[in-house]
Amino acid sequence: MQGWNVYIGGLVHTIRTKGCDRMLVLNQEQKRIIKDTEGIKLVISGPGTGKTTTVTHFLANLLAAGKARAEEVLAVTFTVKAAREMRERVRILTGKRTDVLTIHSFARRVLCAFPPTGFTADFTIIDEKQEWRLIKRLLAAEKLDMHPQAVREIFTLARNTRDNALLEKNKLSALYNAYMQELRGNNAMDFDALLTWGVWTFANNPVALNQYRNKYRYLLIDEFQDTSQLQYALLRPLVTGNLLCVGDYDQSIYGFRGADVNLILNLEKDFPGLATHYLKENYRCTQKIVKAANALIVNNTKRRPKPHLTNRPEGERIIRKSCANPITEAEYVASEIQAAGQKDGAKWASIAVLYRNNILSIPIAKVFMEKKIPFQVVGDRDYFDLPEIKNILCFFRLLAEPDNLEAKGDVISVLSNLRISSSRARLPSIMKSLAGQGDLTGTYTAILEQTGMLKELERNTSQAGLKALANVEELKNVLADFRNKKLEDFLDYTEEARSSLSDDAVNLLTIHKAKGLEFDTVFIIGVDDKTIPFFQNQGREEIEEERRLLYVALTRAKNSLYLTYPRERTVKERKLRLYPSRFLRELKLEMGAISSVTIKGNINAFYQGRPDYEAEAEASRKENPQGPWKDSSGNRWGICKRCSKFTRDWWSLDGDTNMCECNDCRYQ
Ligand SMILES: Nc1ncnc2c1ncn2[C@@H]1O[C@H](COP(=O)(O)OP(=O)(O)OP(=O)(O)O)[C@@H](O)[C@H]1O
Ligand SMILES: [Mg+2]
Repeated sequence: MQGWNVYIGGLVHTIRTKGCDRMLVLNQEQKRIIKDTEGIKLVISGPGTGKTTTVTHFLANLLAAGKARAEEVLAVTFTVKAAREMRERVRILTGKRTDVLTIHSFARRVLCAFPPTGFTADFTIIDEKQEWRLIKRLLAAEKLDMHPQAVREIFTLARNTRDNALLEKNKLSALYNAYMQELRGNNAMDFDALLTWGVWTFANNPVALNQYRNKYRYLLIDEFQDTSQLQYALLRPLVTGNLLCVGDYDQSIYGFRGADVNLILNLEKDFPGLATHYLKENYRCTQKIVKAANALIVNNTKRRPKPHLTNRPEGERIIRKSCANPITEAEYVASEIQAAGQKDGAKWASIAVLYRNNILSIPIAKVFMEKKIPFQVVGDRDYFDLPEIKNILCFFRLLAEPDNLEAKGDVISVLSNLRISSSRARLPSIMKSLAGQGDLTGTYTAILEQTGMLKELERNTSQAGLKALANVEELKNVLADFRNKKLEDFLDYTEEARSSLSDDAVNLLTIHKAKGLEFDTVFIIGVDDKTIPFFQNQGREEIEEERRLLYVALTRAKNSLYLTYPRERTVKERKLRLYPSRFLRELKLEMGAISSVTIKGNINAFYQGRPDYEAEAEASRKENPQGPWKDSSGNRWGICKRCSKFTRDWWSLDGDTNMCECNDCRYQ
């Protein structure tokens, strides 16, 4: 690991991580949040304003200043990747391992220690596909004619919003009970069940609740805007006095899965002493990108306005490109990437291609392969997350941390899957024998042979089986590099390798997966009217969530941003004509009419609600009937040439036709 840290008063750090060297000096507000470690705090601020950085440094500072021991802090983040990244950063800053977990892994930890009635600590976790299959079987048994995926979505929503009426309304209560019964009968849980049982445990088992309340003196939550009622119900009872939540309601993009943005807005009611902090400076994006993002998001009605400014340079023009079809769109992206590579020697990994749905990545992957542009589809399983590799790693983990209940649960479940009878009873002797192997490759061989894992792998001669065996053999090569090192070094390496994106490939990922990440150059493809907003999500609230999704996508870019759309797509062998997304117009790229976002003047004006722009524009029109007409935010107002509406929501296509945003005029 390349890296060192300097900790001066807990507030200045030199961080050196892979490919990134820099001095990070926290701003006054960040310092204030970090310095005052006690109490309930909410940080609401826009993208790139340093929320995650603040959480990481808050945690590092707690440890460095001796305010808490590593095991007394629980930090919760949204994805496994984000959790690993934060854990890794804290380790670089303080040299300590911490509990930075996803909410599901936290719930799992609780349930391993306190299995609910009917479960044992070695319960298994079923994935989406297995869930789907089980629902399908139950639907067939009940002779119900519903799509398993639709049922799954209702289960997820009902559980996350804690709304049983949703099940009743869809006549699914009986099926849901049968589903949960079946899981329990098999000592299994799905992802949401981890949370429901976690909530149940804290509500019904005071010993469990007290244990965790006493253990964690500090609770830190990143991406709070995407917390669901169910997740909140699990975490809320743990708060004994110190809580730091950070989030941005404009980036809430998991409403479809039950995330409730009102939680962030209502936190004040739940914790009357709450101190709210605002970080206003975006350190990530150029002014042009921040302007466009702001111009987009003001169209959402269910939000509180907040400052989102930057001191970064004006930046390059945001490029909007219409292409004939998805292949020409992919070719355009590839040619821009190649040109940038030749011009500035841009690193592949600093570039991302984002899309609304996975399927849009197919033409990109095809063209990149032809043009020999290295790429990785982010979200595909990392090597160390492959089931066959995880099955081995859990033994190493248990050897390093004999009290780690999760690792114990994993090992027992691997042994049971290998049909080793009374695996729980035999565990101590198996672990003792593994511990006596001397070096890591010896332990590796012993794990494979003594458990019968190798035989089992060799028995599976399918393509997938052969691949799994090759992956397992590759692990031996990895272990050979750790010949003279400690087991902990190897485990740290697996964490680090998982947390870093590849150094030499363009990243292809959905917008949902891009949350929290940043790249020098971002291409957002498929910005057409059927894709974003997604053609099935046309309700008012859904449109607002789609708009937030594009807002998240735009603000992943540090310097260069491209928005492309095809004019045609083939769907089920039929050509579908596409138009630019309505959101493209809201960005007001051509008009350049949004006021400067550089920080100057009195920022408090931002907090005092939005001025009546319409009245201002009317006044400007009265004063100067010939125009141009502006409001105080710098928006240009105009009269739609088509329907004569006086509006700021107009845009100019090809520079000559001014049209408003009403549905009649949109596609003219
Ligand atoms: N005080 C600071 N000075 C300079 N750079 C900073 C500062 N704070 C954060 N940054 C940098 O700004 C970028 C964005 O920070 P971070 O990811 O923490 O923002 P965020 O608010 O969590 O964004 P998002 O809402 O997208 O998750 C990072 O590159 C980070 O290193
Ligand atoms: Mg963040």
